[in-house]
Amino acid sequence: TAPILREKAALRERVAGWKRDGARVGVVPTMGALHAGHLSLVEAAQAECDRVIVTIFVNPRQFNNPADLESYPRTEETDAQKLAPFDVDVIYVPGPGEIYPEGFATTVLVAGLTEGLCGAHRPGHFDGVTTVVPKLFLQTGADRAYFGEKDYQQLQVVRRMAADLDIPIEVVGCPTVREADGLALSSRNVRLSPEARRQAPELHAVLVETAAALRAGEALGALREAAERRLISAGFERLEYLELRGAEDLAPLETPERPARLLVAAWLDGVRLIDNIAVV
Ligand code: PAJ
Repeated sequence: TAPILREKAALRERVAGWKRDGARVGVVPTMGALHAGHLSLVEAAQAECDRVIVTIFVNPRQFNNPADLESYPRTEETDAQKLAPFDVDVIYVPGPGEIYPEGFATTVLVAGLTEGLCGAHRPGHFDGVTTVVPKLFLQTGADRAYFGEKDYQQLQVVRRMAADLDIPIEVVGCPTVREADGLALSSRNVRLSPEARRQAPELHAVLVETAAALRAGEALGALREAAERRLISAGFERLEYLELRGAEDLAPLETPERPARLLVAAWLDGVRLIDNIAVV
């Protein structure tokens, strides 16, 4: 298995050696509980970079719900085993003191892009993400960073943050990996009861059909109501949002008049599920 480094000084030294040899370095930031979605990012990084670092850090600052942080799966050993076949160069598992040492006082806040969608329902979440991610970028010194489209708003927010802070890193977005029935892979899927797991793919089915109806010119408002009824009758507790947004600026749209993304969040069995697809 790959060497696990737990200190930023050791990581910096390792990366400096690679860079002296002219290597292009890729990073895949994660919170662990690795699944095939994460591993697809590792594969993309390895295809394009000479050296690949996977970071594992359950970032307390991005959890708006203490129970969610408490119950978030922590599986370092199995994560290292899952990475073994990929032969990554380093697994960076920073201790809390490496990320938030005593006296840490800085928060990075990206305005605009963070205001709707998940930002409206998870107060402080994106501030937590955009505070930890630049630290991971700067600690690793990577040239490229790989993120999943599964967390589409996060991807756009991270792109904006890196550009605004002049961090010399290329943010690469990778397609969402799904189960055979359409459910997007997520570390939180293991919290679904067997029955809820059978109901969960309805979220993706609703996205696919709503996107087709939008392309055919149907109105978003009526489609949203139909989607909500359908999810409720499939066993979901609540539709949190179903929105059409500009693909890059995430500006609210009523019709897919330009590259657009349909994004959804809904609650099933006490678990918050999110998904999104391209409309045009
Ligand atoms: P985490 O939820 O562990 O996800 C790590 C990366 O894996 C993210 O870029 C996410 O979009 C991607 N990912 C998750 N499920 C995926 C799927 N089904 N298909 C493709 N990619 C998928 O996102 C975070 O961690 C954190 O916010 C982090 C960026 C690490 C900052 O703490």
